Amino acid sequence: MTHKPFDIAIRTIDQHEAETREGELADLLVDAVASGASVNFMADFAHADARVFWRGQFPGLGEGSRLLFVADDGRRLLGTVVLTFAPQPNAPHRAEIGKMLVHSDARRQGLGARLLTAAEQAALANGRTLLMLDTASGSAGERLYRRCGWTEYGVVPDHSHTPAGALAPTTFFFKRLVSPNSSGPAGVEQA
Ligand SMILES: CC(C)(COP(=O)(O)OP(=O)(O)OC[C@H]1O[C@@H](n2cnc3c(N)ncnc32)[C@H](O)[C@@H]1OP(=O)(O)O)[C@@H](O)C(=O)NCCC(=O)NCCS
Repeated sequence: MTHKPFDIAIRTIDQHEAETREGELADLLVDAVASGASVNFMADFAHADARVFWRGQFPGLGEGSRLLFVADDGRRLLGTVVLTFAPQPNAPHRAEIGKMLVHSDARRQGLGARLLTAAEQAALANGRTLLMLDTASGSAGERLYRRCGWTEYGVVPDHSHTPAGALAPTTFFFKRLVSPNSSGPAGVEQA
């Protein structure tokens, strides 16, 4: 791909736009599974299955219980990340990161880091100061999260199957966000 990274916008999309672009969102998920990524699905995952997954996410966009960020080059979507606010009454400060996907054509130019940073900033702006996620141990995602200041809190052996069917470990991470107005360092986790 010939784009310069900053020709590509990172932005949220609302429920209506997400529904309109369901096929592109499904393309990204199918591409991730085809590239061997552990994102909850197996190798026989089809485009129709990916559409069903995304349709399940859309109502939350309308209700405000989650935000969907995309990397958009103006022609097609190149990446996603979903920020889901914890619904529990005792966790109004917590949120989860999911479906951190960059198309295999567009990786290794900083889009993953830009998407993650956008989701973290939006979490903080919404009062969500503790973020959680998990990822396949040893994956590009794990490197991304470590580089972006996330803290590992455990590895579960044989947690999930890879798309090809082998049991593999998952690494669990958290990141504590600090408001720029607080006494801690801006936007940096404090374990
Ligand atoms: C994980 C994932 C989202 C990372 O996306 P990405 O856009 O490639 O991420 P970045 O570009 O920010 O960083 C990836 C690598 O490129 C490097 N990089 C970033 N900008 C670069 C540039 N301009 N030139 C060269 N390398 C660059 C980073 O240092 C990083 O290197 P590392 O993996 O060796 O540590 C992507 O690999 C992906 O979609 N994987 C499949 C789905 C998946 O597993 N998601 C995580 C599930 S939790």
